[in-house]
Amino acid sequence: MSRIVVVSNRVALPQKSGGSAGGLAVAVNAALKDKGGIWFGWSGRVAPEPSDAPEVTHRAGITYAVIDLTGEDYQEYYNGFANRVLWPVLHYRADLAEFSRADLSGYMRVNRMFADHLARILKPDDIVWIHDYHMMPLARHLRERGHMNRMGFFLHIPMPPADIIQAVPQHAQTVGALAHYDLVGFQTDGDRDNFARYLEFSGGRITPDGTGCDIGGRQVTLGTFPVAIETAAFARRARHAHRTRYVKAFRESLSDRKLIIGVDRLDYSKGIPNRFDAYEHFLRTVPEWHDRVSYVQITPKSRTDVPEYQEMDRDVSHKAGQINGAYSDVTWTPLRYVNRTYSRSALAGFYRVADAAMVTPLRDGMNLVAKEFVAAQDPCDPGVLVLSQFAGAAAELGAGALLVNPHDTESMAAALKRALEMPLAERRERHSRMMRVLEARDIDHWAEAFLEALVPEETSARRAI
Ligand code: G6P
Repeated sequence: MSRIVVVSNRVALPQKSGGSAGGLAVAVNAALKDKGGIWFGWSGRVAPEPSDAPEVTHRAGITYAVIDLTGEDYQEYYNGFANRVLWPVLHYRADLAEFSRADLSGYMRVNRMFADHLARILKPDDIVWIHDYHMMPLARHLRERGHMNRMGFFLHIPMPPADIIQAVPQHAQTVGALAHYDLVGFQTDGDRDNFARYLEFSGGRITPDGTGCDIGGRQVTLGTFPVAIETAAFARRARHAHRTRYVKAFRESLSDRKLIIGVDRLDYSKGIPNRFDAYEHFLRTVPEWHDRVSYVQITPKSRTDVPEYQEMDRDVSHKAGQINGAYSDVTWTPLRYVNRTYSRSALAGFYRVADAAMVTPLRDGMNLVAKEFVAAQDPCDPGVLVLSQFAGAAAELGAGALLVNPHDTESMAAALKRALEMPLAERRERHSRMMRVLEARDIDHWAEAFLEALVPEETSARRAI
């Protein structure tokens, strides 16, 4: 039976689990848990010298193999090209991109280094599954080293229209290199179609159904695989967490006020300032809710060495201070803005306590907070999800969530009011519509569907065992 070799920049190392992992680490961890395999990536450490060999840990069927980055790699590849060019442009924010040739060459150098390490690990029948924008050219480098394995790539973040992709300097070397995979997977059909158009501009021939491309003599399959959660396990976790002392103390701190919750890494794509504006508008225009609601925004800091994130940090803190300055009372703080991380169990418990969640990114690949919030609810008395139309999750949860445009402050404030005042029967109906989707398509389904598309015979053989 072939091994599955997963590659991503961020690896959810067992000793580190429970922190503020982004969506990728959470999803890949859940997917690999049952299947086992090798997970190769960055250790999260910066060291004076590049690693000679990966540091290997075995835990519950997964072999974690991680390498350190040097200060230069971290600066050019991670902070630089990945997070100051690819991240903003693929989130439709080409205006924020800061390109330098040194960063691009650092990005390519780290991808080659990953390929060198992997080349020593790979067996000919291994199935290689590479994740996210840090590793776009990896298949090309592996192919150049003679590896003809089945290789799939999954993009966790959005893929914008072709003319925005073209704002990435030297995009053919990075985004264009995705054509060296056998399968490229996206969160939504829109993302997939955008990439198909881009390949067409680059000389590829797209099949009439839009799921295949013939380019440079290679065949690439394009697919949509909305990333998911461990629905049943997360619901159980929330039921259990709700009874813990910790979550009880949180509930008591609210003193019968309704709770609005937001949980996001501190990132400009998450639309936190827009959300604060909407909350401010709500407080200004609906005074009857004063002292009857608390909004808790949990926002671990992220990518703190990148200037755009530092600026964002200042803006968001400033806005939070303004709202509390204007509306607080000695016994009421309308907004609790918290920059620390919580365990996934604590978050599950907080979600279950909440009456509404604000998940209003300006752009998001999927947004697993939206899915986890829904799974954590008590089906008899569920909270309401206020969800941005620009989150990948809107494609699946649109029938149950209150969809909003995060640029429209007044409508977001109105959605918040509607969420807090929604009758029980409507809340239940909306919640059950969303739960049906999350139960039918959980994380196992996601991994199976991707692997089935990458290696059809192998996946059916595994299932038969
Ligand atoms: C998003 C990306 C992931 C990334 C995560 C956290 O979810 O899709 O690739 O790991 O953010 O960001 P970080 O830079 O801390 O890894």
